[in-house]
Amino acid sequence: MATLPNMLTLPPRVVAHPGAVGTLLKECRPFGARGLLVHGRSLASGELLNRLVDEVPAGLALATWMHPGGEPTLDHLASALAAARAYRADWIAAVGGGSVMDVGKACAGLMEAPLDPESYHDGAPIPPSRTPFIAVPTTAGTGGEATMVTVLTNARQGVKKSIRHPSFMPRVVILDPELLAGCPPAVIAGSGMDAFVQAVEAYVSKGATWFSDALALQAVRLIDQGLVPVHDGELGAPAQALMEGSFLAGLALSHARLGLVHGLAHPLGHRYHVPHGVVCAVCLPPVIAFNRPVAAEKYEALGTLLDRDLGEYAGTMLETLGIASPFRGQALTDRDAIIAETLASGSTAANPRPVTAADAAAILNTLFAA
Ligand SMILES: [Fe+2]
Repeated sequence: MATLPNMLTLPPRVVAHPGAVGTLLKECRPFGARGLLVHGRSLASGELLNRLVDEVPAGLALATWMHPGGEPTLDHLASALAAARAYRADWIAAVGGGSVMDVGKACAGLMEAPLDPESYHDGAPIPPSRTPFIAVPTTAGTGGEATMVTVLTNARQGVKKSIRHPSFMPRVVILDPELLAGCPPAVIAGSGMDAFVQAVEAYVSKGATWFSDALALQAVRLIDQGLVPVHDGELGAPAQALMEGSFLAGLALSHARLGLVHGLAHPLGHRYHVPHGVVCAVCLPPVIAFNRPVAAEKYEALGTLLDRDLGEYAGTMLETLGIASPFRGQALTDRDAIIAETLASGSTAANPRPVTAADAAAILNTLFAA
């Protein structure tokens, strides 16, 4: 498979070391004198935000916008955009988890766009953005710092969709493993398994190339090194490995797409209000079993790398990380709609084995069995 992806979309600059967040304002300075810092509640309650705001160097001005929490919506985006435009921000930096990253990225991406954000969510062509976006993840999982995609919900219509443009790619990514210190173990577990699933799905995806395979394999290796120790409270080398693994998994998926786990994760997560990483983690074992007939060779390569069968590894990780299935023994409501959304998903389209409605129903039965 001597092919490259048709388009390489990579962040031009990555700063990855303990304490790297301290370089944020220096990194942003070349983009202009006025910046908006998008962050979440956890940053507001810690001392990092004060430190960043207090240490603004001469010639630089900083405003902040706080994501109030929950799934990122078009209303959150409208509020962040209003703040950024009123402040005439030259650049937008996001310091936070996946939701904060999505709002910040969309805010920079649509800063000069003439239409309402809802129009772009509905499919209007997106003009290139001139506002640089700087990404500082405080969790290791979604990989949003490595992609040109942002996922937002239209709360009025109840529709969750991604919008994307190559100009949405962060201009600088700051990976600071020390930021994981403030992350609760349950969040480390869920977001870490999201990263793991993203690497595995990208690796066996129909869109995989040798380029994405190299990224995915290294991502699996690093996440395997880091996830359990960081979940158990270690930082240092495992945290650096987990941060970098999650970033590489994001790069892998953005060049290869995903698979059936992510096809199921959106309709299930949305209806049952389960964190994305948890849905992905519990959907992985049955999807591995389903894909095995067509992905045996690649699963074997992953098994060699992990030193045990991939399906077995996925099951053990659920136990080790204390992720219980939120679906087991529950009533499956909305079955037909869940199946329809799963089959319509772009992730499902990239799954190595074609998926029928009966296949999706069988996997849902497994997930919801008592
Ligand atoms: Fe994911």
